[in-house]
Amino acid sequence: MVIPYKHEPFTDFSVPHHKRAFKAGLEKVESYLNLEYPLIIGGRKISTTETIISTNPAIKEEVIGTVAKATKEHAEKAMQAAEEAFQSWRKSKPEMRADLLFRAAAIVRRRKHEFSALLVKEAGKPWKEADADTAEAIDFMEYYGRQMLLLKDGMPVESRSIEVNRYHYIPLGVGIIISPWNFAFAIMAGMTSAAIVTGNTVLLKPASATPVIAAKFLEVLEEAGLPPGVVNYVPGSGAEVGDYLVDHPKTRFISFTGSRDVGVRIYERAAKVHDGQIWLKRVIAEMGGKDTIIVDSTADLELAAQSIVASSFGFSGQKCSACSRAVILKDVYEQVLERVIALTRQLSVGEATDSSVLMGPVIDQAAFDKINEYIEIGKQEGKLVAGGNADSSRGFFIEPTIFADVAEDARIMKEEIFGPIVAFCKANDFQHAIAIANNTEYGLTGAVLTNNREHIEIAKEDFHVGNLYINRGCTGAIVGYQPFGGFNMSGTDSKAGGPDYLLLHMQAKTISEQF
Ligand code: NAD
Ligand code: ALA
Repeated sequence: MVIPYKHEPFTDFSVPHHKRAFKAGLEKVESYLNLEYPLIIGGRKISTTETIISTNPAIKEEVIGTVAKATKEHAEKAMQAAEEAFQSWRKSKPEMRADLLFRAAAIVRRRKHEFSALLVKEAGKPWKEADADTAEAIDFMEYYGRQMLLLKDGMPVESRSIEVNRYHYIPLGVGIIISPWNFAFAIMAGMTSAAIVTGNTVLLKPASATPVIAAKFLEVLEEAGLPPGVVNYVPGSGAEVGDYLVDHPKTRFISFTGSRDVGVRIYERAAKVHDGQIWLKRVIAEMGGKDTIIVDSTADLELAAQSIVASSFGFSGQKCSACSRAVILKDVYEQVLERVIALTRQLSVGEATDSSVLMGPVIDQAAFDKINEYIEIGKQEGKLVAGGNADSSRGFFIEPTIFADVAEDARIMKEEIFGPIVAFCKANDFQHAIAIANNTEYGLTGAVLTNNREHIEIAKEDFHVGNLYINRGCTGAIVGYQPFGGFNMSGTDSKAGGPDYLLLHMQAKTISEQF
């Protein structure tokens, strides 16, 4: 009997031995910096002449690892390996596949701080954020393993005296997993785990900024007993390998998490039926966000200010769920703004050598440049009241930045910035606040801080987001507790970490036997 699911607890770094253990994790990672990581195709390790060099965004010169870079030819070989492995993996017992994930989760849990330390180095995460990323990776494996056990016998349907009817789920085939860098462990591991526990085989193409944590995950899966060819590791260029695999006639499904533009491109390309293709591809796409926190005059204003700061600047605002718009009712606007500015000034920005550093760098030069462009746009569209400075001499650091008195249709109120910038906008009343919040093509997360029951009920009905939070911030969904996924251009609302997610990776088969 499998014990019931509970989410992985977060580490309390005020406890000295936890701090020491995390430092030991950092030392462990430092002992294996700059290694080479090959492709893994059908269990074979393949080096390539072209490589991806993964560096630390906090110290640009520090190389985390050199990773082989797949070409179309490698992608083709990986597709063949995944197709071959599918023939036996699809018939493997769901219980075995679940146990494999439980074992992989146990391996990660034992080396938890090492994986988090790798996220500090490769993604520039502060300790707390890295710890949460690893905890979420463990949660996905634990949760999806248990979900598969619930689904393995299908759903009951009616039978009659002359026949027995059965309805159960079978895997789809070969899937392409295309993951982002911002939850470099959790989302990559979650998407992969869901696909394989349901009996599919996959090609994993991690984000080019964070391929080493994915290579480490492959080591864990191998140690847990995953047969060759079930997960093939093919880091490479999105434009080259990504397009090739999305177009491939043998691709049965694509599981993507990333930006709106890439998601739309994949969705469109996947719709085209190519020669030799005998199915319509399924696309699971989780995309961007433009997420809002609304505060009314009945709210606990200290909680509101803390929620805005944590949701806007956690991991430097590089979360699809991050608050980038604070919509405050006019009678408490100045008070909330002032308190948010004061709390923001207390945030320490820098390389996360200790748990006291609350904001690290942004991921790379392109992100640094794009966010700085938005700071300039913000200066035209609002009043700069905190931050605004940036420094890329050692790493890609940007101060937590607040723009006040921004109009509801400004660019920084509508476009995803994906950096540590929040725009403050004044609302006349609660209905106006909801209208401002909904005035975006996205619909991922949102939060309302209020003690007015009527406002809560209005938000529940009219605030059009996949994840609505009342009296808390808008980041930090927990697997199995707050299934995560958005509406409109935030994606296909696939709700990762929720009870329906695995079904997206399977198809239902009806078998009726007459006597
Ligand atoms: P991105 O779209 O740039 O890249 C995501 C992945 O797509 C990477 O692996 C990349 O190599 C690949 N890719 C790029 N071009 C491709 C192509 N033509 N074909 C196939 N694959 C291609 O996104 P990112 O910068 O890695 O991540 C940040 C974005 O992800 C933000 O927009 C954020 O909101 C979004 N995100 C959404 C969720 C969610 O659950 N909704 C979670 C995390 C991140
Ligand atoms: N699941 C992540 C969050 O809720 C993105 O913040």
